[in-house]
Amino acid sequence: MFKDFWRERVKFVEENLIVELETTKFIDEKLFEAMKYSLLAGGKRLRPIMLMSAADAINPGSGKKFVKVACALEMIHTYSLIHDDLPAMDNDDLRRGKPTNHKVFGEATAILAGDALLTLAFEVTARQKNVAPEILLKVVSEISTAAGASGMVGGQMIDLESENCRIDFDTLKKMHAGKTGALFRAAIRSGAILAGADEEKLSALTKYADNFGLAFQITDDILDVVGDEKTLGKPAGSDERNHKSTYVSLTSLDKAKELAEKSVNDALDALKIFGGEADFLRELVKYLNERNS
Ligand code: IPE
Ligand code: IPE
Ligand code: MG
Ligand code: MG
Ligand code: MG
Repeated sequence: MFKDFWRERVKFVEENLIVELETTKFIDEKLFEAMKYSLLAGGKRLRPIMLMSAADAINPGSGKKFVKVACALEMIHTYSLIHDDLPAMDNDDLRRGKPTNHKVFGEATAILAGDALLTLAFEVTARQKNVAPEILLKVVSEISTAAGASGMVGGQMIDLESENCRIDFDTLKKMHAGKTGALFRAAIRSGAILAGADEEKLSALTKYADNFGLAFQITDDILDVVGDEKTLGKPAGSDERNHKSTYVSLTSLDKAKELAEKSVNDALDALKIFGGEADFLRELVKYLNERNS
């Protein structure tokens, strides 16, 4: 049932990503093709699904209404992946089971496709209907803060500065919270805010999101070591090749697994004030910790 629900949501997100692309005015065909290539290349569609599920946990059945903001998050995430794979960053050739954007379209176009997806995210957020302007403004603030210097981009910067050196545990946590945690936090908080969450529920969901993000990136670090390219849809061993600081390189495989498990339990614990309306979020964090892609 969990899997069926997820599949249905993935389909819903992808149909809506196409709608948003089609309602956008493009003046250059190659840029459009490059954006579309990565945006529709597959992927778990976690961030948009989490936004809708957080809204459902607050106001059951409301999640799908906020699909435009949900799509915006997937655009920001996709841009972050395009740039993450560039030669100047992780220099990877495969993403979501396909050649990376720069391999197909060239580096300059890949940079611009990323830029344009980031910007399109806010254009699409502004298309969201049936939300009071002050609520939408709060959501824009959540998302932009999470995507920028104090969130994802900041974390990516720490990641680059942590190559070839041994960083302390606090820096590692800050890096993960930024590069990966911030967008999950924005997804969950935006969904909750859109659905009218009170402070208590918003803070419980935020705790869930932060632990989810941590568990997710630790698992990503583990999969980079134990996973295989075919299942992952991206190269394994990328972190080692780039001398990255990760949970595995700074501790050990076993310790990393233990820490991921602890974060999963903390995420579940944060949901204890919710009933069955948060079951999907519960299943999701358990499932993703055991994933192989
Ligand atoms: C990959 O994210 C990058 C990280 C933040 C670890 P996902 O594992 O969510 O990638 P897709 O969207 O499924 O391709
Ligand atoms: C990057 O983390 C997270 C992003 C902000 C894209 P990684 O560099 O570990 O992500 P993957 O393993 O390439 O997906
Ligand atoms: Mg990276
Ligand atoms: Mg990478
Ligand atoms: Mg990784």
